[in-house]
This record gives sequence, C-alpha cells and structure tokens, in this order.
Amino acid sequence: MGQTIAIISALHEEQAGLLALMPGQRPERLAGREFWRGQLQGHEVIAVLSGIGKVAAATTTAVLMERFAPQLLIFTGVAGGIGDGVSVGDIVVGSSYLQHDMDASPLFARHELPGYGRSRLLADPRLVALMQQAAEQAIAWLPRQLDPATRAAFGLQVPRVHCGNLITGDRFVATAAESCALRTELGSALAVDMESAAVAQVCHDYGVPFCAVRTISDRADDQAHVDFPAFLHQVARHYSGRMLETALSLL
Ligand code: ADE
Repeated sequence: MGQTIAIISALHEEQAGLLALMPGQRPERLAGREFWRGQLQGHEVIAVLSGIGKVAAATTTAVLMERFAPQLLIFTGVAGGIGDGVSVGDIVVGSSYLQHDMDASPLFARHELPGYGRSRLLADPRLVALMQQAAEQAIAWLPRQLDPATRAAFGLQVPRVHCGNLITGDRFVATAAESCALRTELGSALAVDMESAAVAQVCHDYGVPFCAVRTISDRADDQAHVDFPAFLHQVARHYSGRMLETALSLL
C-alpha cells in the first residue's frame, strides 16, 4: 500500500522534472501556492514549490501538513557548498539542520531554537539512508545526461554524495569571507541554504519524518552569484526527478 508523500522543490526546473513523472497530476491552489497531487511509484505524491527563505518554506510546509497530512516529507533543492571537499555538482543528504542566523542570546545560547532546548534538528534516519542510496544511484547516471562542454564547465566528472549537517539562513551567502566565517563557527556544516532547517522545524512540530537533499550549485564564495544561476539553468533540472523516482521505488 502506497504512502502519502510530500515533495517540496526549491526550483521550477526541478518541479517540472518531477511533475513530468506524475501523469494526470492536478493542482490545488492554497495560500498563493500550487499543490500538485499525483501518483509516483505507487505512492500518492503532493508536489509544491517551497518559496525562497525560511518564512516562505515554513508556510508551505504548514499548509501541506494541515491540508494533505503527508506521512513523510522530502525536500530537494540546491545549496552552497561550504564543507571541505563539497564541490559543485555533489549531492548533500542532510542528516541534521541548524539555523545559522538564529540568535536569541543572551536569553538562549547562540543558535538554540527557543522552546526546543537545542540548536540542531535531526532528519529521519531511515529517510536519510534511503535518500543516500537514491542519490548514489542517481549520481552515477547524472553526468551522462549532460553534454561534455557543460560537464567540463562545471567540473562534474565525478560528483560525490555527502551526508551531514545543513545550515540555513535568510541570506544568500556570496562571499568567501562569509562562508569562511560560517565554516569556522560551525565546523561540521557541509552546505548552506535558505529553507531546509525551517522545513525541518515544522516537520518536527508535526512529528512527520523529514529529509532534505541538496545539490551543490556554488561554493558560497565571491563567484556564487555567477555559478548559482548558471547551474540552475544548465544542470539542476536533471538532478531530482530520477533521484526521487528511485527513492520512492525503494520505500
Ligand atoms: N542556495 C544555493 N546557493 C546558496 C548560497 N550560496 N547561499 C544560500 N543559499 C544557497
């Protein structure tokens, strides 16, 4: 028996790839967002775009929970790589999430989520293992979908899958100085984005298993504002469809 699975995408390009795998899907409009309902690999899927930033992503997730009551939630998008060896084209499966711009000190420790007694929220371990397996399978196939010039331009010859801490804040990190400061402050962080930890918090509140998977579009450095749109345009759309199809077939 299939499950009800929410899939939040960060990008139009990714969502288009996913919807193409869900024939007969239809949209429902709520809170200014389109929620697409369809079937994939025998599961009921609700697909929606997150919106950009923590508030937009949290609102999307709360509406999903209230209207569709998914049994699990997967987020796919892109992120800036900040960990050593996390390169453009690699995939990061988030096993824990932290808001790097959360600061209620001195009332609470730096990064602590007020009311939660901790700064990091964990992904569901079973979903992490599943997404790692799906990402490993997809990544072996992905570079072959791109023409050699695009592969060379982005250095996508042997992309890798990493698993670990994703950090989130309402800021596009676009200087080497800032990504270096984040790396120094939060040593274990692999990548930075603008939504994952917010979605993780809402999933935690509703008790729904969650995992975010992020493809590295840039290195969150002085080149990020150039690499990011080029990656979205030329590469990102190839990534999530196949990975999600594989993941849902393994559930
Ligand atoms: N998403 C993709 N690249 C990013 C960056 N450099 N900073 C924040 N979010 C991102």
